[in-house]
Amino acid sequence: MQILQDKKIVLGITGGIAAYKTPELVRRLKDHGADVRVVMTEGAKAFITPLTLQAVSGNHVSDSLLDSQAELAMGHIELAKWADLIIIAPATADIIARITAGMANDLLSTLCLATSAPIAIAPAMNQQMWHAKATQANISTLKQWGFHIWGPGAGEQACGDVGLGRMLDVNELVTLSSDFFADKYLQDQHWVITAGPTREAIDPVRYISNHSSGKMGYAIAHAALRAGAQVTLISGPVNIAAPAGCELIQVTSAEQMHQQALAYVSQATTFVACAAVADYRVANIADEKIKKDNEHMQISLIKNHDIVADVAKSAHKPFIVGFAAETQNVEHYARGKLMRKNLDLIAANDVAKAGQGFNSDDNALTLYSAIDKIEIPLANKQIVAKQLVSLINQHYVAKNTEK
Ligand code: PMT
Repeated sequence: MQILQDKKIVLGITGGIAAYKTPELVRRLKDHGADVRVVMTEGAKAFITPLTLQAVSGNHVSDSLLDSQAELAMGHIELAKWADLIIIAPATADIIARITAGMANDLLSTLCLATSAPIAIAPAMNQQMWHAKATQANISTLKQWGFHIWGPGAGEQACGDVGLGRMLDVNELVTLSSDFFADKYLQDQHWVITAGPTREAIDPVRYISNHSSGKMGYAIAHAALRAGAQVTLISGPVNIAAPAGCELIQVTSAEQMHQQALAYVSQATTFVACAAVADYRVANIADEKIKKDNEHMQISLIKNHDIVADVAKSAHKPFIVGFAAETQNVEHYARGKLMRKNLDLIAANDVAKAGQGFNSDDNALTLYSAIDKIEIPLANKQIVAKQLVSLINQHYVAKNTEK
């Protein structure tokens, strides 16, 4: 069954240009099984018509507090009680201010006061308005009150400015909605995850690295967040966005990743080492760009710290999951790393196979413990990560019940 199946969602639309995206949002939420009722402010109707939203939602659109006919059909208090979740998208600076002030001067602000349902706000406004002290103070108050703030995203704005203030994409809003209702079985856990490659400088313009894109580690971070964990993602340089809601620590080199991993280990219940860490770094990094004066050149390398092995040696040892990227004898090498690095589990991927592993959207893993061997078949990394996170938790729970 889909997570949004039969979930009752009130979508509040306010007067911003991003309102044009809301018919698509309604359709996508409905595709996922949600029942959607739309509430519009006067400002929203300047951008999109109630008739359009009625057609896509299949429900009457409410836009007035004082409409006796609408109140007869489903009164505002009834609507406030009906909702499992209220999403305000786009949410202008005005509605954010009115909710924070506790105003009830139109249907949407009244609903927010009258409901006990959770409220998610997807801000959309000019970047200067988003950064204004008043807006930031309002957002911080709403967060303290338990409102969920989804976004905003950054990029080019309708007014031509560039910066934070764009409403999140419809896809992201649908994902956040379904994450919201997902089973929060990791609620009391803090996962620290390493992801992406490291870069080891040779000189100011060159470095040694590998093909890790960060997709696998970021998918694990997303799956753990969705299951309710607090997530710290220690990431090497990648070109993908971190999942909303995680704490992102950006590093470049293996030594920086090592430092951050050890700084966070005492908070972690679970440590997942998905990063493709360079085993060696350059012994003497040149201060200036190296010139091609010689036919041959040699670079002397020294061994980096083994991050996951050092985490396993720490006084506060969390539940530790390593990865093994192998091109041959996968089980033999993976089991060797499991023992040598003192890990609880190791997820091995055969990176010699086409269409999986480094920089691919898909992966297949074999998860080894000292006694188990579990296959996670080839699938999109998001799906693989979801299964992996659930399996890690099963082993974590088993280990902690043994104690
Ligand atoms: O990022 P993607 O493009 O999505 O690709 C995903 C991936 C292939 C990078 C990922 O699935 C993966 O296999 N990550 C581990 C890659 C790796 O470096 O494996 P390894 O066998 O060399 O290292 C074994 C383990 O020790 C790993 O958990 C690694 O993070 C850790 N390690 C290694 C060296 C080091 N100095 N410190 C470490 O912590």
